[in-house]
Amino acid sequence: MVNLEQLARPCILARKDYIPGKPVEEVRRELGIADVIKLASNENPLGTSPLALQAMAREIERNANRYPESLSPELAGRLAEIHGLQPGQVYLDNGLDGVITRIGMTFLNPGDEVVFGQVTFPAYANAASRMNARLVPAGMTPGLRIDVDAVLGALTGRTKLIFLCNPNNPTGTILTRAEYRRVLDHLPDTALLVMDEAYADFADDAEYPRAAADLPDHPNLIVLRTFSKVMGLAGLRLGYALAQAPLVRLLARSREPFPVNRAAQAGALAALEDRDFYERTLQNNRAGRAFYAQALAGLGIRSIPSQANFILIDLGQPARPVFQAMLRLGVIVRPIDEPGLENYLRISIGLPEENQRAVAALAKALGGSTPARATNTKETA
Ligand SMILES: Cc1ncc(COP(=O)(O)O)c(C=O)c1O
Repeated sequence: MVNLEQLARPCILARKDYIPGKPVEEVRRELGIADVIKLASNENPLGTSPLALQAMAREIERNANRYPESLSPELAGRLAEIHGLQPGQVYLDNGLDGVITRIGMTFLNPGDEVVFGQVTFPAYANAASRMNARLVPAGMTPGLRIDVDAVLGALTGRTKLIFLCNPNNPTGTILTRAEYRRVLDHLPDTALLVMDEAYADFADDAEYPRAAADLPDHPNLIVLRTFSKVMGLAGLRLGYALAQAPLVRLLARSREPFPVNRAAQAGALAALEDRDFYERTLQNNRAGRAFYAQALAGLGIRSIPSQANFILIDLGQPARPVFQAMLRLGVIVRPIDEPGLENYLRISIGLPEENQRAVAALAKALGGSTPARATNTKETA
């Protein structure tokens, strides 16, 4: 008899399934509600740039039968220009998820250690566990920020990768320039620092550092960006790494031959030129963050000041029943469901009417029960 479990790699068998934000279609099907909004995956609520939509339609019409260019040279060239780098310093893949997997595949041997903040984006742990590397979560500060002392304290001679998410998902907090610099200054030659800047465009704190400026001096630094958030192309799957050219060449060695499809390449190139869409996205996000800060305070709900396109809230009571009740009202948000964070919900910033509906659904779901703590976290960075 075939025993698939014996054939599979143990580190794959041990992995937990990643549970993404619930899709709108699934909620409509399961609960029979037509009018559903999704504020669960930090997507762009404005949709997609009209310029990108036109470019993608044109590309599909003309060239859907042809393989795309393997290394997306035109897009890599434009991104290099934007970030002040050379085209050979840009590595594109199938979403930032694809880039993160590629980094793990390129650098991790079994037993290597991978350090990341305890409350952060799960793809880092996934990339490590796929390669049978050792996960080393570093504790957070009491305000749920990434704790640089804990990160530095977790480094050993076996540390291969350090993933820092900045702004951090799901907390929305940032590492300041000084904190990031401390990590960079203590970075051993035997490890790589990966700065995940998926939400960089939304950060407007003067202390927020953009790490690409440090690439010339650091051959073991990788900076990650995505087209899924501010660029509104999550469905097309396109993310990229910025690093020195030898590191980019290493990443490219294990890639699929055509990781980025034609529509994504064409759409991304056009989206980069759509300043109007970009500015409207940021403006909507700023207004949405301000709205939530005020509305949540009005409900007596503690929230963590966010530098991203989502907000993490502490209900002071188990969040899953509140999440379920909001689902029944047609509003999809995200419970964190991790040990110690059972009381937290993450809400993506939506359109103004979506934000209002989310707050109304939250108030109704809480059913008049007062959250345990009604203070606002003071730790802002
Ligand atoms: C911090 C962070 N990095 C990476 C990703 C993955 O981005 P992509 O859609 O490009 O795979 C996400 C998606 O939510 C994210 O939050």
